[in-house]
Amino acid sequence: MKAEIISMTQDRLDMEGIKRAGEILMRGGLVAFPTETVYGLGGNALDPRASKKIYAAKGRPSDNPLIVHIADMESLDRIVTEIPDQARVLAETFWPGPLTMIFPRAECVPMETTGGLDSVAVRFPSDRIAQELIRAAGGYVAAPSANTSGRPSPTLAAHVAEDLGDGIDMIIDGGPVGIGLESTIVDFTGKIPTVLRPGYISLEMLQEILGEVAMDRGLLITDKNIRPKAPGMKYRHYAPKAELTVVEGEEAEVVMAIRKLAEEEGDEVGIIATAETREQYPKGIVKCIGSRAHEETIAQHLYEVLREFDECRVTRIYSEAFYTPKMGQAIMNRLLKAAGHKIIKAQEVLKHDSIGM
Ligand code: TXA
Ligand code: MG
Repeated sequence: MKAEIISMTQDRLDMEGIKRAGEILMRGGLVAFPTETVYGLGGNALDPRASKKIYAAKGRPSDNPLIVHIADMESLDRIVTEIPDQARVLAETFWPGPLTMIFPRAECVPMETTGGLDSVAVRFPSDRIAQELIRAAGGYVAAPSANTSGRPSPTLAAHVAEDLGDGIDMIIDGGPVGIGLESTIVDFTGKIPTVLRPGYISLEMLQEILGEVAMDRGLLITDKNIRPKAPGMKYRHYAPKAELTVVEGEEAEVVMAIRKLAEEEGDEVGIIATAETREQYPKGIVKCIGSRAHEETIAQHLYEVLREFDECRVTRIYSEAFYTPKMGQAIMNRLLKAAGHKIIKAQEVLKHDSIGM
């Protein structure tokens, strides 16, 4: 099945196209659509057959639950059994937007959608195309990121077509997404609200509103025995074909260290640089991810750059580290996952040099 592709923008919605997309979802089909974070692969969240189709299309393990997308607050009451006051406050502050919250699941949400869990993840996206689609589909759209399992999440419709173009009914092309990293996930099923996946809405932003907020231990500790609570965070993810290593330290030292590594490796090395540093790498295939002065551009282009390197003949990629003030936590979470947690210190790389001499 070749997906039909329709195009529109936030400002000029094709309501006829959205209506047809909604009908496909109501009949149990699959439609990929833009959201403000990444493109999603939508199916009717209350139809177990649609959820099974989503897993099959992505090649995703069926114990990895889906997020249910809604387009108004009233819809939340029907699919969860309890909404803590703190969750209501977050909803008032950040919904519609890049925040997913986890609640105890109501009976009407099939186990196929929640990967067998008694909780359900819910998000109210701010993208207007997404909102209209959810309404046209009856109010509840299960949507994981619209990539093949293990590949970087799609930030352009072309990425969706590349991965899933032959296995789904329709792709809505709404142009490049705004944020580029998946939503922040906050779990409300325990005593303390807990971040299971960092995103645009940072821990500090949540703490400012709620006070105490925990970070899932599985995210902080790279111990194989401590599993992240969001099943999806345990899988190798976003991994490019080439071996990726992150280099951290002072900016000037990082540049010098990557130059040295590229010198040693020869031409088949890829470098993830920024607008501020790209000119400083004479060797290797250099891709500019964005500007440190505008950290949101780094988030926007991370997955695109990883996908682009899959098309290049590089065997190794070195990336600068991006501990930027607001989104650094989320960017580094995804970058380190892509690197299989391989990170080295620039000073170490440079020190070797002097020992060698
Ligand atoms: O920004 C986003 O959230 C995008 C767009 C399309 O909305 N969606 C997305 O979905 O990233 P997905 O399926 O790629 O990631 C969902 C994550 C997975 O890590 C999954 O394990 C976790 O959410 N998750 C879903 N339901 C959960 C639950 N009940 N308990 C714990 N983790 C859950
Ligand atoms: Mg995903």
